[in-house]
Amino acid sequence: MIVLGIDTSCDDTSIAVYNGKENRMLSNIVSSQYQFHQEFGGVVPEIAARKHAENIDIVFNEALKVAGIEVSDIELVAVTRTPGLLPALLVGVTFGKGIAYWREIPLKGVHHIEAHIFSPFIGKVPEFPFLSLVVSGGHTLIVLVEGLGKYKLIGKTLDDAVGEAYDKVAKMLGLGYPGGPVIDKIYKNYDGDFIDLPKPRAPQFNFSFSGLKTAVRRLIEKGYPVEQVAASFQKTAIEYLTGKLKKAIKELKVKKVAIAGGVSANSLLRESLKIMQVEKNLNLFLPEMEFTSDNGAMVAYVGYRKFLIEGEDSLSMNAIARSSL
Ligand code: KG4
Ligand code: ZN
Repeated sequence: MIVLGIDTSCDDTSIAVYNGKENRMLSNIVSSQYQFHQEFGGVVPEIAARKHAENIDIVFNEALKVAGIEVSDIELVAVTRTPGLLPALLVGVTFGKGIAYWREIPLKGVHHIEAHIFSPFIGKVPEFPFLSLVVSGGHTLIVLVEGLGKYKLIGKTLDDAVGEAYDKVAKMLGLGYPGGPVIDKIYKNYDGDFIDLPKPRAPQFNFSFSGLKTAVRRLIEKGYPVEQVAASFQKTAIEYLTGKLKKAIKELKVKKVAIAGGVSANSLLRESLKIMQVEKNLNLFLPEMEFTSDNGAMVAYVGYRKFLIEGEDSLSMNAIARSSL
């Protein structure tokens, strides 16, 4: 079955073509709009929607071309319907519905977080149960994944998401948007001393990032160098994430661990987990770099599997801005 996967939940217009039966991704095209949001230091929903509308058919044609297929080859449309920026989601959902209606093929709505969770398994077969750390611009969660659609929320952020904290810290330091890749690059090149930042307090396996942001603001006001502040922020934020994850692994006695979302591209997070893998004898699943940020491939992969279990969604399916897993 040839599956089209669409994601327009935030500021990436992404479409992939997937051969479900052979478990092979045939194309994965992402058109990023970050330069249009840069001057605002974050994503502006109306600009995102307008850019998706301008780009989506170009991305679609490119995805078909790279995959070497025709429109008539598509047999299922999978599209992110929730959560995300509503005007942005609507562009992808409307486009997906249009293709499904025109070609008279089934439509499947996908939950964006569920798609991220399975991104380390693209081209492979998921191994249940596994513990997933989902770290993106909008979410920070620890989830126990017992099967497709079987999730137990273990912990979540009580305020900002970790990617959001990266973006806000970068904005305060005048480093532009998105902040994650720039701060990560500074960290990799930095060889000075680190400033001790207090680890935020949050009960059990939950997270909090707003205190860390305030601590960074104080350092900036005191005149500490940009590189030192950025590198110290990354060290604290990643140690905080891995510390909580380690605690959850121990308490839940799991051996299979995965990470997902934009922040899973982070070099220190990946390195720390590889060390933890050896120390704790874990089975570690890291997404390929191209599947860390938003992409249509993860939507096609999960949409196909959900379609096999649940069947199709109606063409009256709607986009929803907020929803839990
Ligand atoms: O998953 P994603 O592409 O979009 C959402 O669904 O939110 O995540 C985007 C987030 C941004 O906040 C960005 O700064 C962060 O991922 N990010 C990183 C890195 N690359 C992207 N954060 C830390 N280190 C990175 N290397
Ligand atoms: Zn995402």
